[in-house]
Order: sequence, then structure tokens, then C-alpha cells
Amino acid sequence: MPTRSSRACWHIRARPAELRPVDINALVEESLNLAYHGARAQDKSFNVTLQRDFDPAAGTIEIIPQDISRALLNLFANGFYATQMRCKAVESDSAYEPVVTATTRRDEDAVEIRIRDNGTGIPADVVEKIFTPSSPPSRRVKARASDCP
Ligand SMILES: Nc1ncnc2c1ncn2[C@@H]1O[C@H](COP(=O)(O)OP(=O)(O)OP(=O)(O)O)[C@@H](O)[C@H]1O
Ligand SMILES: [Mg+2]
Repeated sequence: MPTRSSRACWHIRARPAELRPVDINALVEESLNLAYHGARAQDKSFNVTLQRDFDPAAGTIEIIPQDISRALLNLFANGFYATQMRCKAVESDSAYEPVVTATTRRDEDAVEIRIRDNGTGIPADVVEKIFTPSSPPSRRVKARASDCP
């Protein structure tokens, strides 16, 4: 017999995620701002130029907005992190300027979203595994593991 709290959790998890028509440019803009303010909140010295190249014809598409937003937040956070790593690696008087660009393009029945950064670049061994779920282990997971007693 499940306890009341486990039944409540089951109920929450079982609730179907809702597909709904979402304004893609607005979702990308919102995620970009959230990620940027999150990074600034963590590190006041964090600095990046944000560029937007939004297709006015991007329109709406049926998605689960929370899922896509989470993916975008990760891409932005990765891009910001990579630019910060490059900032630290180059001389302080270098002309390097960190830039993260968000691009949208309507393509018949699809919308393409590109998040680009001019940071360190993704190491070749990581690129190979980029579409392998949960590989490589994330910094957050590693941090959690090392936090364990
Ligand atoms: N834009 C990028 N530039 C350089 N390296 C990247 C970039 N995106 C991803 N990577 C590399 O891929 C790894 C995996 O990225 P992933 O987002 O899965 O995990 P993470 O960012 O380490 O942790 P989190 O779970 O917090 O997202 C990163 O740790 C980094 O080494
Ligand atoms: Mg990440």
C-alpha cells in the first residue's frame, strides 16, 4: 500500500507533459535572459556580449516548453562557461571578446535553434559522445559525488 506522499509523487510524475504551441523567439529570448542573469548572479564579474539573430518568421511550434527551455538553459550555461574558461586562458590584455549568439530559422515545418559561443571549443572526445545520454559525467554530478561523505 503506497503511503500518501508516494501516491502524491506518483500523481505528479504521471501528469502528462503538455505539448503546446510556443513562440520560439520568445522562448529563446526568455531562456537567454534567465541563463545570463543566473550566470551574473553567481559571478558579478561575468561578462559576455549576447547576440540575437532571430528569424521574424520563426513563429510558433508545438513543443513541451519546459523541456526545450531546460535544454536551452544548458546550452547557454555551457557557452557562458566556455567563454569564461577562454577568458581565463588568454592574457588579460588580449583582444578576446566573449560572445554567445542565439539564432533561429524557420524551415518549412521545422524551426532550427542554434546557440553558438566563441569559447574554448568542445574537446573532440566530448563531441563524439555529445548525443549519448548522461555521458560524459557532468560537472554538477561530479560536484555532487565529491560532496558525498
Ligand atoms: N559550448 C561548449 N564549449 C566547450 N565545451 C562544452 C560546451 N558544451 C559542452 N561542453 C563540454 O561538454 C561537457 C558536457 O556538457 P553537459 O552540459 O552535458 O554537462 P555540464 O555542463 O558539464 O554539466 P551540467 O549537468 O551542469 O550541464 C561539459 O562539461 C564541457 O566539457
Ligand atoms: Mg551543461
